Amino acid sequence: MTEPVIELHEVSRRYDDGRTALRQASLTVCRGEAVAVLGPSGSGKSTLLHLIAGLDRPDAGTVTVDGVRVDRLDETGSALYRRSKIGMVFQFFHLVDDLTVAENLVLPARLAGTGRAEAKRRAAELLENLGIGRHTRAYPGRLSGGERQRVAVARALMNRPPLLLADEPTGALDSAAGQEVSRLLQDLNADGQTLVVVTHDLALARACTNRTVRIGDGRITEDTAAQDPAAEAVR
Ligand SMILES: Nc1ncnc2c1ncn2[C@@H]1O[C@H](COP(=O)(O)OP(=O)(O)OP(=O)(O)O)[C@@H](O)[C@H]1O
Ligand SMILES: [Mg+2]
Repeated sequence: MTEPVIELHEVSRRYDDGRTALRQASLTVCRGEAVAVLGPSGSGKSTLLHLIAGLDRPDAGTVTVDGVRVDRLDETGSALYRRSKIGMVFQFFHLVDDLTVAENLVLPARLAGTGRAEAKRRAAELLENLGIGRHTRAYPGRLSGGERQRVAVARALMNRPPLLLADEPTGALDSAAGQEVSRLLQDLNADGQTLVVVTHDLALARACTNRTVRIGDGRITEDTAAQDPAAEAVR
């Protein structure tokens, strides 16, 4: 349980226009943890996820995930890293509308080198497990928001990533669909999946995570797992 999966060490990210999204943020997430990242709009939450996913690079500090120095990867290395280590769930699903549900899932597995038959088998199994097996041949446009977000979660899990990152996974959903996704994340973590969930939704944070990190103006201002007195003093 105490093996670190994500290690951010004094990470700063400043954009070309002078905006600073993160200021010396340090965070360690261990295997099996479910962490909620909360904070006002513009505080740096998505930037933090993008740095962990290797979609962006820090200006200072180090990002290590599952032993890989993510901040040092080139473009190819970064794409390979994402395929093997990261499952990402975006706020607005980002499904390919011209592909069926099953094809949306098969795609990342094929890119990662999985054979077609095995990818199809895995897709069918995941869709069944997530309660959307009957939509395998449907196109995403026909599904409800909650169902689409479930497909997005299933796709993120196709390559069995050590780490699942979700950016506002219930942001575009009504409360019933939000609860569906919340239960799903809860179940995944109960099965041992490590989760980092960015959200404005306190109910989601409470329901499916066991640790809360707050960000304000690019700094980590609160961490319910923090042990050191300096971090405690910030509360
Ligand atoms: N590509 C970019 N170029 C310039 N500034 C950016 C870029 N991406 C983010 N920023 C700025 O960095 C800061 C943090 O942005 P970020 O998207 O991480 O916030 P957030 O906490 O995810 O906000 P929200 O809750 O609205 O999604 C903001 O001031 C934002 O305007
Ligand atoms: Mg954001």
